Amino acid sequence: MLKLTRRHFIVSGFTFLAAHRLRSSFAQVERPNRPLAIASANRITLPDGTVYYNGIRATERAFQLMRAGSDPLDAVIAGVNIVEDDPHDMSVGYGGLPNEEGEVELDASVMHGPTGRCGAVAALRYIKNPSQVARLVMEETDHVLLVGEGALRFALSFGFKKEELLTERARQVWLQWRRQRSERDHWMQNKLPGALRSALPDWDWRQFTGTINCLAITEAGDIAGVTTTSGLAFKIPGRVGDSPIIGCGLYVDNEVGAAGSTGWGEDNIRVVGAHAVVENMRRGMSPLEACLEALRRVVKLYGGRPAHQLNFYALNKNGEYAGAAIFKGAQFAVTDARGSRVEDSAYLFERPPQ
Ligand code: GLY
Repeated sequence: MLKLTRRHFIVSGFTFLAAHRLRSSFAQVERPNRPLAIASANRITLPDGTVYYNGIRATERAFQLMRAGSDPLDAVIAGVNIVEDDPHDMSVGYGGLPNEEGEVELDASVMHGPTGRCGAVAALRYIKNPSQVARLVMEETDHVLLVGEGALRFALSFGFKKEELLTERARQVWLQWRRQRSERDHWMQNKLPGALRSALPDWDWRQFTGTINCLAITEAGDIAGVTTTSGLAFKIPGRVGDSPIIGCGLYVDNEVGAAGSTGWGEDNIRVVGAHAVVENMRRGMSPLEACLEALRRVVKLYGGRPAHQLNFYALNKNGEYAGAAIFKGAQFAVTDARGSRVEDSAYLFERPPQ
């Protein structure tokens, strides 16, 4: 059972207050907040010190396209393609950190509200834009999920180019990880030994469990979403996270809203998180309440504070939106008529267990 500490009450009080404010502010507007795009926001730091948020690029592109009349799925895929193509983002697409054998394996899913259709690929190698392949699975087959070699052959048959996705920067990090491995490493925890953190103190360690989820709603109220990732760094080859599993890393219902996730995929799979968030909204919860309730299910599974970060993002038919995480410090990107911005996610706990 989740034990409610004083800190818990304070944090929950804050988030419920935030939820109330969110509802109140939208209660005052006459029209729904549409079009709108939201995304996870990973902070990327370049070697020259330049800092940017990957999600802002995605939401801006998606918003511009929807403003120009695009279908919401075209819009979000175009948005995350910027991130998949970015060699500096080490959690998505080209430049993503590899599995334990040094091979980049990508997962992605898409879902289109107006048709209720979806597609996904998992453990896909050599293809920079797995979100585009996921869309082809949705559009060109009556399957939902293709994996590994079959997913690669499917992509090649549609003319996708086979490319090496491991950048030199990612290879250097992987080599560092290999050098630091010891008999103390095992499969039951994040396989990043503490020594590696001290060996590479300048790294932003959140990049090791990145991913991007982007959700959008058009002015007319049509909704779509995409989630794309290189998954957990140094994973066992063939490991599939939550991102390509419809209902876990992504879920869209055109009558209700959409939800997606980033963070520790295994924890999300255990609660089928994105579907849980959308069903919470169907029962009348705000996006924020819906995300927090799904996170509390994870807490309940652990019987207390979980070991890893997990984030949910959600929007509803009115263009209300939220981001929420297990631990403090997460952010998400938003673009709407008020412009583009990064907002802080609500959270359940101040920090991970020591
Ligand atoms: N959420 C991304 C992963 O666990 O692979």
